[in-house]
Amino acid sequence: MRKISTTLIVMFFLSSLTINAQTKKKPQSALDKKVDALISKMTLEEKVGQMTQVTLDEVSKASYSKHEIDPDKLKEAVQKYHVGSILNVMGAAYSREHWHEIISAIQDEAAKSRLKIPVIYGIDAIHGENYTQGSTLFPQEIALAATFNRDLAYQQGEITAYEVRASYIPWNFSPVLDLGKSPLWPRIYETLGEDPYLGKTMGASLIKGYQGNDVGDKYHVAACMKHYLGYSFPLSGKDRTPSWIPDRYMREYFLPAFAEAVKAGAKTIMINSGEINGVPIHASHYMLTDVLRGELHFDGVAVTDWRDIQYLHDRHHIAATQKDAVMIAVNAGVDMSMVPYDYTFYTYLMELAKEGKVPQWRINEAVHRILKLKFETGLFERPVGNPNDYPKYGSDEFRAVSFKAASEAITLLKNNNSVLPLKKGAKVLVTGPTANTIRSLDGGWSYTWQGDVADQFAKGKNTILAAIQQKLGNDNVSYQPGATFDQLKNIDDAVNAAKQADVIVLCLGELSYTENVGNIDDLNLPEAQTQLAKALAATGKPIVLILAEGRPRIVTDAEQLSSATIMTYFSGNEGGDALAGILTGDINPSGKLSITYPRYANSLNNYYRKNLENGNPDDKHGYNPLYEFGSGLSYTSFSYSNLKISKPELKEGETLTVTVDVKNTGQMQGKESVLLYSSQSYASISPDFKRLRAYDKIDLKPGESKTVTFKITAKDLAFVNDQSKTVTEPGEFKLTIGDQTVSFNFVSNTIPSRTGRL
Ligand code: BGC
Repeated sequence: MRKISTTLIVMFFLSSLTINAQTKKKPQSALDKKVDALISKMTLEEKVGQMTQVTLDEVSKASYSKHEIDPDKLKEAVQKYHVGSILNVMGAAYSREHWHEIISAIQDEAAKSRLKIPVIYGIDAIHGENYTQGSTLFPQEIALAATFNRDLAYQQGEITAYEVRASYIPWNFSPVLDLGKSPLWPRIYETLGEDPYLGKTMGASLIKGYQGNDVGDKYHVAACMKHYLGYSFPLSGKDRTPSWIPDRYMREYFLPAFAEAVKAGAKTIMINSGEINGVPIHASHYMLTDVLRGELHFDGVAVTDWRDIQYLHDRHHIAATQKDAVMIAVNAGVDMSMVPYDYTFYTYLMELAKEGKVPQWRINEAVHRILKLKFETGLFERPVGNPNDYPKYGSDEFRAVSFKAASEAITLLKNNNSVLPLKKGAKVLVTGPTANTIRSLDGGWSYTWQGDVADQFAKGKNTILAAIQQKLGNDNVSYQPGATFDQLKNIDDAVNAAKQADVIVLCLGELSYTENVGNIDDLNLPEAQTQLAKALAATGKPIVLILAEGRPRIVTDAEQLSSATIMTYFSGNEGGDALAGILTGDINPSGKLSITYPRYANSLNNYYRKNLENGNPDDKHGYNPLYEFGSGLSYTSFSYSNLKISKPELKEGETLTVTVDVKNTGQMQGKESVLLYSSQSYASISPDFKRLRAYDKIDLKPGESKTVTFKITAKDLAFVNDQSKTVTEPGEFKLTIGDQTVSFNFVSNTIPSRTGRL
């Protein structure tokens, strides 16, 4: 029975794939011809090997945290299985010297192979080059997004690329372009937040920084947009569990960041380990070929995520055998398999190719993309790189950019009675489980996969406590932990210390984690942390609540006891110093939330909710987050005025110029992110309450004002309709910037109004 159905499936796939191949022919560049010439010399074994990626453990004597290349294993990988790519570390950050040894050994072995094709090494440098000692670690993406500063994203990308190349690696598995919609999901901190526009614009800036003008020069690396698609929205909130996303919804919210990344030139893509509507993406010809290649016109390398072809059989149960899994994935459009622990992919794909169940053209297509990437990243000329080319590695110049990013990310959410900045000479108690660990600044993917030994590696970097001590002087600062992440710890000592202090800096939140290790069953902060807050509040001393965490854990009970609240997210190695600068007023905060901060664990709306979710005005259970996306205070004040549009009616093909005056009406220089939202009054698909369409960040001295200009076209106001088409339906639109609003009509010659109004 299985035999018949497998054969039918294969016939169906092969016929649809042939059609696809025929319709997709593009003019060949000189590089394409060079690649094809090389492919023409390759055996099937060599081609299938190129599509195989194994982890460093596979070619090492010891694994996880003590990799030393094992020459025999390496020889087997390169000469017998012809592996095209190696990845990872996981358990340790190595010195640049050790990386040089590892990469040199790999490329020396590749140079002994028949065609001397270099191996491409890939790594997860997702907030700086986190697997090399002494690198510059930046804010995680969720914090970077809170800066609303594209230039910083570009610089973060550029410096990361420099330091990844300084580690002799040309391929970075970053950026995460998953939409941060679900606060439970343990990887939301790796995303650029909940907004599709913010995500796609900041994501494109990161990619341009990673890849520069020439991805082959010695300071840039190939980006890998991930995890395509819908990974971030599992129904359970837990990592690698099913998502249910209608096609229209997928195109409206999840696809735009990837479409923009393709336009920005991203060289590679990694596939979502989960499944949408019961279809694992690794098996989806629709997602991997029809949409990705046919619609987005992506022509780079599609690599699987960790073991995901094997999981089509083991976890998803959509392939009856491992061999079927390989057939389904490669025919769906996978170019490279992150196998990563054995050579079964190689063996099965060899068999499938010989049996004609995976067509030769599909293998050639995948290998073409992989070899092209190797040429483009300069690997044929420079397989290793020169250690002396990177004098700025880990430099103060780079550190300053990370500090700036943290300073512009950290978000002041409440400041009752101007308790901040702290008064000169104030006696401060620093307390709470996130006060004295780098883990709560860096999060996962920091020196190790889980970031669990960051304190050991980040020597010389300040925790929140150390940074405050340095800023205020040890005599003015006392410290009591009060609680661990989920247990009380000498709470009486913390309360007694609070009685002696003028202000309590209470640091709550999370330690580091990622992927399934970070799964939670409850978004509420552990009870011990709330108890600590309550006990400290009973002293009557003002509390400055610091939330150092990767996702917005519910803190409502503790938060109502604070005089000031600051979200630091995972703000990187310089986050402690940046926070200390904000507490003392040396830095004026300018971050704005890149995610909505929920008030209740079971009330998780994004700011772009539907009108229906608002509830009635007297409805206690309507939309009521603790802090909305875009919230964030400054020590100065800004006023908005004169919101104007260039015409009262926008027609297709025209551009609307929107201007607004922003003035610093306070006493301190400050930066302000100016956010433009649109709301459509009526549309055939219920319109979102509001959507971010443009933003800019400006810097104003006290009393200074600036006119901020945005250009809006009909395309910027579009949505995906019930035919999965992106359209802008005619009708009334409202634009909002700060407290200013203005309305206009959009008139279309081609799209009829579907709302009954003309
Ligand atoms: C993660 C990816 C990562 C890969 C390689 C996977 O478990 O989902 O984001 O790039 O491992 O380390």
